[in-house]
Amino acid sequence: MNPSDLIGPSSSLGSPAPYWFLVFFKILGFVLHIIPMSLWYAGIILALLVRWKGGENGRIWSGRLMKQMPLLVALGVNFGIVPLLFTQVSYYQVFYPATILMAWFWLSVILLLTLAYYGVYIYAYGLKEGNSGLTPFRQAAAWIAAIFFIVIGFLFSNAFSLMTNLGGWPALAEKTGEAGAVLGTALNTGDSTLWARWLMMFGLALTTTGAYAYVDAGVFGRKESEKYRLWAGGFALKIYTLGAVWFALFGSWYVFGTWQEEVKATMFAMPLGILTVLTAVSPGLVWFCLWFFRKSVSKRAAFFVALTQLVVLSLNAVSRQIVQNLELGKFLDVTAEPVKMQLSPIVLFLLLFVFGIGVVVWMVRKVIAVETRPAAG
Ligand code: HEM
Repeated sequence: MNPSDLIGPSSSLGSPAPYWFLVFFKILGFVLHIIPMSLWYAGIILALLVRWKGGENGRIWSGRLMKQMPLLVALGVNFGIVPLLFTQVSYYQVFYPATILMAWFWLSVILLLTLAYYGVYIYAYGLKEGNSGLTPFRQAAAWIAAIFFIVIGFLFSNAFSLMTNLGGWPALAEKTGEAGAVLGTALNTGDSTLWARWLMMFGLALTTTGAYAYVDAGVFGRKESEKYRLWAGGFALKIYTLGAVWFALFGSWYVFGTWQEEVKATMFAMPLGILTVLTAVSPGLVWFCLWFFRKSVSKRAAFFVALTQLVVLSLNAVSRQIVQNLELGKFLDVTAEPVKMQLSPIVLFLLLFVFGIGVVVWMVRKVIAVETRPAAG
């Protein structure tokens, strides 16, 4: 069997918009997704560990993050739809075969996510009732949610690493197929890219969790005591350091141990070499901001931390997109799809996207206004 035989046929409908438009929103959507996604990916397990072993301030941080978690999950899941839509539109020839090969695991994301979301709500309701509200059932629900989110992250890394591992498809299709039909029970575990990438993404999620601990204390947590806010500055730096070291270790494995030679050659040659180096070293900038501002947690400093972490995540999103195209390049050129412009769905998407972002900005401003309003009386 030849990998090209398993690629989906090109659609006679063509591409509904130019490639630059589709890939711009794919990357933008992924950046919007990865911010809240990181907070539940690495944040929940960390919040539970810190509540268990972290002392009084640790409990405050853990409670603050977990109370916000239902909203963060809602935001992240909705933002995830944006890159999913654009992946399905422009990478359908490889996205569908890959997710059909692992169909049962891919479908299980819906069940796992629903249960994890319930778990987050159950725990957040318990928090509202104070310490006595955190019954063993509610605590167990949160631990299960934390594990399910990590498993879902693993399945996403599977799907997106399998999508470009075309060379591995024939063997997987034969191993998990019956009379020419695949059973949907494959995982990309034989490809070391998966493991390196899953662990690297978890490290990146840890850095975002660290940066958010600072932003939360500087922006949303202004009614907390000065003692707590000072602690949060130091805590954010510690978590960021852990995440950055983790990201550097597994990112090095991902780049030097799993990238194909052609990908390495292009990503380290000029001008893309600059992007690769910036992607690798950019967490250092956030780390420096956190170190510099660790003893004076303010709204202004939080702005710098948030902005620099946004740069880190954006650089990652752009680099991963280029690598994705390079990996697929041997078999398929997604940019060459003929364009048959479909204006009405695109205009509708743009209007709803702008409206949706407007609603989110409005919601965040309301929260900031409530958190910074002086206490009555
Ligand atoms: C139904 C809700 C979700 C949707 C629609 C969604 C969508 C996406 C999409 C489209 C990507 C790839 C973006 C790209 O490469 O351009 C992605 C990546 C990712 N998502 Fe989500 N996501 C959802 C929920 C989750 C959940 C619950 C987790 C759990 C932690 C998660 C973790 C990840 C991870 C780790 C990646 C990066 C995978 C990799 O490339 O190695 N997502 N998501």
